[in-house]
Amino acid sequence: MKIAPSILSADFARLGEAVAIAEKGKAEYLHLDVMDGHFVPAITFGPKLIADLKKMCTLPFDVHLMIETPDKYIDDFVKAGADILSIHAEASIHLHRSIQHIKKLGIQCGVAINPSTPLSAVEYVLPDIDLLLIMTVNPGFGGQTFIPQMITKIQQARTLIDKFYPHIQIEVDGGINIDTIRLAAQAGVDIAVAGFAVFGSPDPIIAMRNLRVASE
Ligand code: DX5
Ligand code: ZN
Repeated sequence: MKIAPSILSADFARLGEAVAIAEKGKAEYLHLDVMDGHFVPAITFGPKLIADLKKMCTLPFDVHLMIETPDKYIDDFVKAGADILSIHAEASIHLHRSIQHIKKLGIQCGVAINPSTPLSAVEYVLPDIDLLLIMTVNPGFGGQTFIPQMITKIQQARTLIDKFYPHIQIEVDGGINIDTIRLAAQAGVDIAVAGFAVFGSPDPIIAMRNLRVASE
């Protein structure tokens, strides 16, 4: 299982250190949660912070936009250094068009779905995306509890993707810890985002190692 630590649970006054820790712990991606106070209740950060972190980090940036009207900001986040840019299906009125916009800019495109959104809502865009981000909590905050009913959705996605779109990676986000990462791995997840389980832990590097071991 690939691990994508989310800096959401890190100390925002010491983000440089958090990024260095993610690199030292051999994370496969750095997960960056952009929240606008509209699509989700909280507000986090925007392209400038991502561009500044990009200068000091060699990990691929996995940028998760939890914002309304994502089309307005796609260019800014690509310019800031996103390697994968995920938009929410629920926030995109013309999802297919937004995906084409991201792909045209030459980076990988992800589509995220909230727990209440069925897989069928995004089936028609699967031929065009690189990553399917299945939310395992209602997005907006770190440290929430994994919703176990999402396992069925992950299994369905795995079956569909294996059959028709094997290039797509499945990512899960929310409530990942050493117990839930095992369930996610068994259901066929490729990438697990972990915020609180890594940066809420006294030793984030050991926490990342424990997550990896638990997923094997
Ligand atoms: C949730 C965010 C997540 C968050 C996960 O709204 O999209 O990426 O950082 O945090 P944990 O792992 O603490 O649930
Ligand atoms: Zn996220």
